[in-house]
Amino acid sequence: MTRTPTRDDRFSFGLWTVGWQARDPFGDATRAPLDPVESVHRLADLGAYGVTFHDDDLVPFGAAEPEREGRIKAFREALDATGLVVPMMTTNLFTHPMFKDGAFTSNERGVRRYAIRKVMRNLDLAAELGATTYVFWGGREGAETDSAKDVRAALDRYREAVDVLASYVLERGYAIRFALEPKPNEPRGDILLPTVGSALAFISSLEHADMVGVNPEVGHEQMAGMNFVHSIAQALWHHKLFHIDLNGQRGPKYDQDLVFGHGDLLSAFFLVDLLENGGPGGAPAYDGPRHFDYKPLRTEDTAGVWVSAASNMATYLLLKERAAAFRADPEVVAALAESQVGELATPTLSPGESASDLLSDRGSFEEFDVGRAAAHGYGFARLDQLAVEHVLGAR
Ligand code: GCO
Ligand code: MN
Ligand code: MN
Repeated sequence: MTRTPTRDDRFSFGLWTVGWQARDPFGDATRAPLDPVESVHRLADLGAYGVTFHDDDLVPFGAAEPEREGRIKAFREALDATGLVVPMMTTNLFTHPMFKDGAFTSNERGVRRYAIRKVMRNLDLAAELGATTYVFWGGREGAETDSAKDVRAALDRYREAVDVLASYVLERGYAIRFALEPKPNEPRGDILLPTVGSALAFISSLEHADMVGVNPEVGHEQMAGMNFVHSIAQALWHHKLFHIDLNGQRGPKYDQDLVFGHGDLLSAFFLVDLLENGGPGGAPAYDGPRHFDYKPLRTEDTAGVWVSAASNMATYLLLKERAAAFRADPEVVAALAESQVGELATPTLSPGESASDLLSDRGSFEEFDVGRAAAHGYGFARLDQLAVEHVLGAR
């Protein structure tokens, strides 16, 4: 591995990622269970700074209170021993058969009440462990049939659940923000809030909209045929990028959860460039954890799990280096200018100019040289080739 991560890189992993036993719809587990305590130590050794988890990743569903306390204590000791932090936590509202028709949006009211209580209990733990982001991935919030789900009522119930939980956080004085994670399908045939765009629109309808953002995942957006870099840019534009799930995906098929960069590499490059260099004056545009939500291939043994975990971080760091080189290359600077990329930041109207001022500006219409504007090329192909050459290490 050519690049070594440090805590300052703020890389984090879910316990469910390295701990995935590789059970799939067609086959049994290919790996033994991994003790969360061991995962914490291994991730710390590899250079990660944080670990995240669902309630049931740490404490099996239905465990008695003494067992729950024992597992939390052992986990806490591992955190203290390694210095790893818990930046984000989430709830498993999808594995237990009771959630087969959803959690917050199950047709059955009792299931919805249980789901909210399950989140409340884990929010208390999140506050205790110092997590500042709480993710909601509604994998079971959806349907396979259009006859069986009243989507508008489901959205009412979804909003009700998030509103109630937000007011719970505020009442308790927890320093926690929520991040909704969109996904178009899998495990449900169609999942509610399928894309970043739909999640952003939903958030604007919430009672405590200011404390709710998104946790977009590379593969999920790509499963829906969306451009992930565009989705992240829009989330940033709305100041709603609260967290991010990095991984790889090859086009619209089942959720692959590949290692970061092992899908659409060029998109991964532009994503890293946006996150790291997209802020004012080329500063980072995002300062949260760089969280990997991937699944080690089912073909790997335990050693392969740790190789793949390290690969996520190494790939990110390599792309970060390549993006810096791209930005610093004088030929790139010239090509960007040639392509008028910076000009888009200039407002279309001048300061103080009104719609009627524009109407009376003959140069903007009557005398505008439409022939010239139509004839000149923008040089985008050349600019993109420069990016490809930087990604390939050819520059
Ligand atoms: C997926 C999702 C999940 C969620 C996680 C958080 O791959 O479908 O990414 O892994 O991120 O369960 O709740
Ligand atoms: Mn996924
Ligand atoms: Mn995810």
